[in-house]
Amino acid sequence: MKIAFAGKGGSGKTTLSSLFIRHLAAARVPVIAIDADINQHLAAALGLDEHADSAPPAMGAQLPLIKEYLRGTNPRIASTETMIKTTPPGAGSPLLRVGDDNPVFDACARTIRLDDGEARLIATGPFTESDLGVACYHSKVGAVELCLNHLVDGRQEFIVVDMTAGSDSFASDMFTRFDMTFLVAEPTRKGSAVYRQYKEYARDFGVALRVVSNKVQGPDDLAFLRDEVGEDLLVTFGQSE
Ligand SMILES: Nc1ncnc2c1ncn2[C@@H]1O[C@H](COP(=O)(O)OP(=O)(O)OP(=O)(O)O)[C@@H](O)[C@H]1O
Ligand SMILES: [Mg+2]
Repeated sequence: MKIAFAGKGGSGKTTLSSLFIRHLAAARVPVIAIDADINQHLAAALGLDEHADSAPPAMGAQLPLIKEYLRGTNPRIASTETMIKTTPPGAGSPLLRVGDDNPVFDACARTIRLDDGEARLIATGPFTESDLGVACYHSKVGAVELCLNHLVDGRQEFIVVDMTAGSDSFASDMFTRFDMTFLVAEPTRKGSAVYRQYKEYARDFGVALRVVSNKVQGPDDLAFLRDEVGEDLLVTFGQSE
C-alpha cells in the first residue's frame, strides 16, 4: 500500500505520519518512509538526528544512479537523459520491491531502529544554495515519483510519504500515485478549505481521500468537522498537552 499524508502547513502531517510508521514497524510490517516535504522533519520525528551518519542522503542527488538502474535493459529508453519522472517501466525495467535490497535503496534509504521495530527512511533532501532561484521543489520530488512508478508493493507492505503542505503537493503528479491519501485537517476554516481544494483537484484522478482530523478539542470541533467534510472523516486525534 502506498499512503500519503497531506494537508495544511502545521496541521500534523509529519507527526501523524511518524506515528503511523512507528505503528506499522511495531507490527513488524515492512515500511518505507519517504520525506517529500520541503521542510525535512520526518527523520527527527522518527527520533533520528538529521546530522547523524545514519541520516539518509538527499535522494535528488542520486538521480543519475536511480535512472541508470531503473532504465535497465528497456530498449524503449534510449538513454537516461530521455528518462523523465513519468517514464513508465517496460520490458527490461527492474522493479523495486519494498523489502528488497537494490542499488536504489542502497544509495538512498537508511534503516532506522525505532523503539519497537524498524523502518527504512528516504528523504528528497532540502533545497541547497545552488537550487535557490533556479530550481523548484517539484524537480526535487521527481526522483521519488520515478521510484514510486517502479515500486511493487504488496498489501502488507507500506510506503508512507510525508507530503509538502497544502496545494504545493499538486505541483507534481505524485499525488496520483497513492492507494490512500490521508488529508490531515485541523478543525478550522483553513483546515477544511485545504480539504475542499484537495478533493476538488483530486476528483479527476481517482484519488482515494480520507480526512484524519487533528488537534480536536471537544464536541464543537468534531461537529464542525463533520459538517465540513462529511463521511470523508475517518478518525480524529485530540489536542495533546
Ligand atoms: N494532536 C496534537 N496535539 C498537539 N500538538 C500537535 C498535535 N499534532 C501535531 N502537533 C504539533 O503541531 C506542530 C506541527 O505539527 P507537524 O510538524 O506534524 O505538522 P506538519 O503538517 O508536518 O507541518 P509542516 O507543514 O510544517 O510540515 C508541531 O509542533 C507538533 O508537535
Ligand atoms: Mg511536516
